[in-house]
Amino acid sequence: MGGTRTLAFLLQLVYLTSCMDQLHIIYEWKQLDFQFPSPEARQQALDTKAFVPENNLPMGLEVYGDRLFVTIPRWKNGIPSSLNYVNLKDNTTSPKLIPYPNWAAHTTGLNGMPSEIISPFRVRADRCGRLWVLDNGKIGSLENTTIIFKPSIIIYDLKTDTLIRKYVFPDDQVKQNSGFANIAVEDSDCTKTYAYAGDLGKPGIIVYSFDKNESWRIMHHYFHPDPLACDFSVKGHNFTWTDGIFGMGISAPNADNYSTLYFHPMASYNEFAVSTEYLRNQSIADDNFEAFKVLGSRGPNAQSSVSFLDPKTGVLFYALVNLNAVACWRTTNKEYIMKNQGRIYMNEVTMIYPADIKVDYEDNLWILSNRMPIWRYGKLDLNEVNFRVFSAPVVDAISHTAL
Ligand SMILES: *[C@@H]1O[C@H](CO)[C@@H](O)[C@H](O)[C@H]1NC(C)=O
Ligand SMILES: *[C@@H]1O[C@H](CO)[C@@H](O)[C@H](O)[C@H]1NC(C)=O
Ligand SMILES: *[C@@H]1O[C@H](CO)[C@@H](O)[C@H](O)[C@H]1NC(C)=O
Ligand SMILES: *[C@@H]1O[C@H](CO)[C@@H](O)[C@H](O)[C@H]1NC(C)=O
Ligand SMILES: *[C@@H]1O[C@H](CO)[C@@H](O)[C@H](O)[C@H]1NC(C)=O
Ligand SMILES: *[C@@H]1O[C@H](CO)[C@@H](O)[C@H](O)[C@H]1NC(C)=O
Repeated sequence: MGGTRTLAFLLQLVYLTSCMDQLHIIYEWKQLDFQFPSPEARQQALDTKAFVPENNLPMGLEVYGDRLFVTIPRWKNGIPSSLNYVNLKDNTTSPKLIPYPNWAAHTTGLNGMPSEIISPFRVRADRCGRLWVLDNGKIGSLENTTIIFKPSIIIYDLKTDTLIRKYVFPDDQVKQNSGFANIAVEDSDCTKTYAYAGDLGKPGIIVYSFDKNESWRIMHHYFHPDPLACDFSVKGHNFTWTDGIFGMGISAPNADNYSTLYFHPMASYNEFAVSTEYLRNQSIADDNFEAFKVLGSRGPNAQSSVSFLDPKTGVLFYALVNLNAVACWRTTNKEYIMKNQGRIYMNEVTMIYPADIKVDYEDNLWILSNRMPIWRYGKLDLNEVNFRVFSAPVVDAISHTAL
């Protein structure tokens, strides 16, 4: 029992003592594979290194209708398709991924750029039947040479699987170290819809108005990493990350049709909130610095990556990467303090690096874990299950917590 374990044990007590983990594993993979048009096409992709299986790491998930979407960032080469889905009727344990909307959208041209989608980390299916894809635009950021294309928001019609719009971020809103990994969509009005794209590298939010087809950039010091919260430790891998604004959860609208955006930088123990009233107009955001609120701290070692707010229950779910855990907090609870937070699931084998969290339109919670720090700083054991998709009805998932 080393120091790390003792600390994890203490935090386990803090994050409530129940062991009744309610999540079920829906799919699991040792390694990802794709539904190529033919076995010959698959073999050719392997031979030409268009498909390098060990470089494919699932990072984002979303569920809409009978489809489970899975993103695979192009951090390294050999990613055949960076946005894919699985038909949820597929009851095999480790289904092959199907490119979305089709193979052509991922086919690389002579300039090395895929024709439609480059490298998304996370996507969001809104209640109006549209899939919002936040495309980071970078290829090979973990290789010796990185190719940088323009980041964008790509919107698909989920009924017809056709492209509605691709909005490329204007040059003056993209900075040298920009990194776009997370998107929240405010969809209470299907026309006057707003998307919030977090820039974790040069901390800021790009706000995109679907109605105006325009975007602007909001800055605030609460988007910045906390220099005292940049050290991470996952399964013996210690590393320093200085990521800014990361987790973003959007509430149901209030009587004036504004939502609250709950957010936190990745390198931080704190949670923050702001009404979208301020984000929807850049000059109003600039003039109202104090509209951004600090809610409180999750406590030591409790840095969080992704988060998602279930608009029906008002419960905010978030990943605790150092603790191999997912926790939650009811936004109607006044105080954001440790004792008001509930642990959904914690496991040192199956929940190593919870990478994405969503609630679908049938009130089920979905979580993807992917062991990313081991993949990045060590080597995944291909004899073990490395990637898992968990699910449970929200009511079951929160039933044993203090909420
Ligand atoms: C999986 O689905 C197939 C057809 O969709 C069905 O025949 C089979 O019984 C199912 N297997 C399990 C274990 O549910
Ligand atoms: C990157 O460069 C280093 C040193 O030049 C080399 O050892 C390594 O193999 C290169 N990696 C890749 C993925 O090309
Ligand atoms: C949205 O704006 C971009 C330029 O910023 C333009 O290229 C595109 O055609 C516009 N799309 C629509 C649907 O108006
Ligand atoms: C990693 O960090 C933990 C504490 O977070 C520490 O106990 C451990 O000694 C560190 N390991 C290495 C190899 O530095
Ligand atoms: C809020 O939105 C709903 C639905 O779009 C609309 O009927 C209502 O008038 C709006 N309320 C306000 C205060 O704008
Ligand atoms: C933003 O707010 C300012 C100050 O209230 C106002 O003058 C401006 O018209 C607003 N801009 C938009 C695009 O609504």
